[in-house]
Amino acid sequence: MIFDRVWLDANLCTMVPRDGDPLGVIEDGAIAAKDGRIAWVGPRAELPATAAETRHCDGAWILPGLIDCHTHLVFAGDRAREFEMRLEGASYEAIAKAGGGILSTVRATREASEDALVQAALPRLDLLLAEGVTTLEVKSGYGLDLATEARMLRAARRLPGLRDVSLQTSLLAAHATPPEYAGRAADFARHVAEEIIPAIAAENLADAVDAFTDSAIGFSAEQTEWVFDAARRAGLPVKLHADQLRDDGGAALAARYGALSADHIEYASAEGIAAMAAAGTVGVLLPGAFYTIRETHFPDIAAMRAAGLRMALATDLNPGSCPAPSLLLMLNMGCTLFRLTVAEALAGVTSNAAAALGLSDRGALAPGLRCDLALYGISRPAELCYWIGRNPCLGRVVAGR
Ligand code: NIG
Ligand code: FE
Repeated sequence: MIFDRVWLDANLCTMVPRDGDPLGVIEDGAIAAKDGRIAWVGPRAELPATAAETRHCDGAWILPGLIDCHTHLVFAGDRAREFEMRLEGASYEAIAKAGGGILSTVRATREASEDALVQAALPRLDLLLAEGVTTLEVKSGYGLDLATEARMLRAARRLPGLRDVSLQTSLLAAHATPPEYAGRAADFARHVAEEIIPAIAAENLADAVDAFTDSAIGFSAEQTEWVFDAARRAGLPVKLHADQLRDDGGAALAARYGALSADHIEYASAEGIAAMAAAGTVGVLLPGAFYTIRETHFPDIAAMRAAGLRMALATDLNPGSCPAPSLLLMLNMGCTLFRLTVAEALAGVTSNAAAALGLSDRGALAPGLRCDLALYGISRPAELCYWIGRNPCLGRVVAGR
C-alpha cells in the first residue's frame, strides 16, 4: 500500500498502553495516513511502505488530537460582573438563586442571533484549536426554550464548516429553570421531556441529552429521570452534570441510565462512583470549574482509581463557572489540584474523552482510527501538564490533513 502521507522524526504518545507504559510511547516513530485514517503506527525503522507525501517533524511529540468532551462554548455576553460579586463575597449558588448565574447568560443568549452566537464562539474555539484540540463537545443550555436551544445547537453545528474540527452537540435544556417557569421546575422538566427533546431530536440537532441534577439550583433526581426517559424514547444517549455542589445521587442516577458520562462529580460517593464504573459511565473531571467557584470538596480520585473508573478531563468552558478556553490548563489543574498522574490526565483528554462522547474511532494513535493528531515542541509528555499558560502546540492534523 502507498500511504497518502507519513510523519517522521517524531516521538509518539500513542495512548495505547503497552509493556507497562500507560502512554504507549514510541520514540523515533512514524505514522502513516490513508483516506483520513491512521494506516500504520510504529518505530520509524519498521515503516513498511512509502508515501505520496512525507512530513519531517524535527523530534516533535505527536499525540492523538485532543478532545474537549464538555464545553458550553456557544453563549452570548459574559459574567465579569458576577466575578466581581464573588470577590465581594457572594457564592456561585447565591448568585444563581438571585436570578443571576446561568439565567443572566440566558437573557443575553435569547437576544442573540444565530450569526452572533457563531461569531462569539469562534475566537474561543480558535484558542482551543491552537492547543491541539481536534474534537469537542458543545452544549446548549442558555436558551431554556425550544427556539433558543435549537438556535444554539444550529450555531454549534455551523462551526465545523468554518474550522477544521469535529463537533458533538448535547441538548442541555434541563440546565436551569427559566424565568417564565419560576418556582415550577417540575413543570419545566416535563416541558423539556415532552416538547423540547422530541422537537430537537426530530430536527436531529443533538447527539446527546444532558441535564443538571442539583437539589438547590438544578433539577431533582426524579425530574432528571423524566428528561432521561424522553432522551431514551428519542434514541439519544445521556450525560449528566452530577454531584457538583453536593451529593444528590447524580453519579448513581447516571449509571442507572447507562450514561456516557457523569461530569463534575466532586461530591459523588464511593458507591456512586462504583456504579458508574460498572455501567461504563465515564467520570468527567472539571478542575477549572472547581477552581473558579473555589470549591473545597475534592472529587474522590482514590475511589475512582479503586473502582477502575475511566476518568476524562475537560474545560467546561462557560461564562460562569469556567471562563477558561484552555484544555492544556485543565491538564495542569487536573494534576496539581486533583493529583492525577500525567498518564491519567493525558488519557483524560484523549482516549477517555472519546469514550465520554461515545466515539470509538478516535482518542489514540492506532491503525483504523481517524488520523487526528496534535504536534508539540516538548521534550517529554509531562511538559503538557507541567507548564501553566504556555502553549507548545506546533500544529494539528484533522482526518489526515
Ligand atoms: O458546568 N453546573 C452547571 N452548569 C455549568 C455552569 C454554567 C454557568 O455557570 O453558566 C457548569 O459548571
Ligand atoms: Fe458544564
